[in-house]
Amino acid sequence: MTDRWKPGSAVRLETPRFQLASLSRLQAAWHSYAWTSDPLVMHPYGLEAGSWTRRSWHRRLRRFNNRRRFCIGIRPKGGAGLIGYETAEVSSQGVAFIAVMIGDRDWWGKGVVQETRSAVIDFLFENVGCARVWGTPGIRNFPSIFNYQKLGFTCEGTLRQHGWDPATRRRQDYFIFGLLRDEWLEKRKQQAAI
Ligand SMILES: CC(C)(COP(=O)(O)OP(=O)(O)OC[C@H]1O[C@@H](n2cnc3c(N)ncnc32)[C@H](O)[C@@H]1OP(=O)(O)O)[C@@H](O)C(=O)NCCC(=O)NCCS
Repeated sequence: MTDRWKPGSAVRLETPRFQLASLSRLQAAWHSYAWTSDPLVMHPYGLEAGSWTRRSWHRRLRRFNNRRRFCIGIRPKGGAGLIGYETAEVSSQGVAFIAVMIGDRDWWGKGVVQETRSAVIDFLFENVGCARVWGTPGIRNFPSIFNYQKLGFTCEGTLRQHGWDPATRRRQDYFIFGLLRDEWLEKRKQQAAI
């Protein structure tokens, strides 16, 4: 957990295997540019792969201010570089919309999201003061759906034909997964009791 974060300052979190730290828009664009050519990484976001320049990719990303918009880079402890990042966008009503990209596919299937997202959710509820966290995986993005379910999110509905799927070249549905502060605290209590 972080005790030192003040709105606007860099977020630094630690999990057993990873160091998490805020990235600026430029840093995020620079480090993740190589992943933009990978369809498996880009298509779940409804984005084409291989059509990006450094400049267009940079412009596609939001500005992250560490107040309401966060991009938190994920680095394995012990030296390896950035393998992905978690983003969160917090509304004025204290609702955080989250997403994740693990661009280094060597790290898929290794529980990175379970571990790092838990720390990000702690941060959003405890430090930022959010009341709710939510995300919208595509209905066929099974790893993402399983990750939400495993962390205790509730499937609250379907956004029909909400986005474009470059893989099938059709519109696709997305699920809404939401998690409330009390539900997360209860989950943490249960984890601590095991
Ligand atoms: C989504 C993403 C971050 C998931 O990475 P990951 O957590 O390493 O994924 P995993 O392979 O460990 O899968 C997560 C869980 O889903 C399960 N799963 C994966 N594919 C599955 C399938 N086809 N059917 C059933 N379960 C499946 C895994 O078994 C795992 O559960 P477990 O930990 O109980 O074994 C990664 O695929 C990624 O970066 N994709 C591109 C961007 C993206 O999709 N972001 C999310 C946008 S909402």
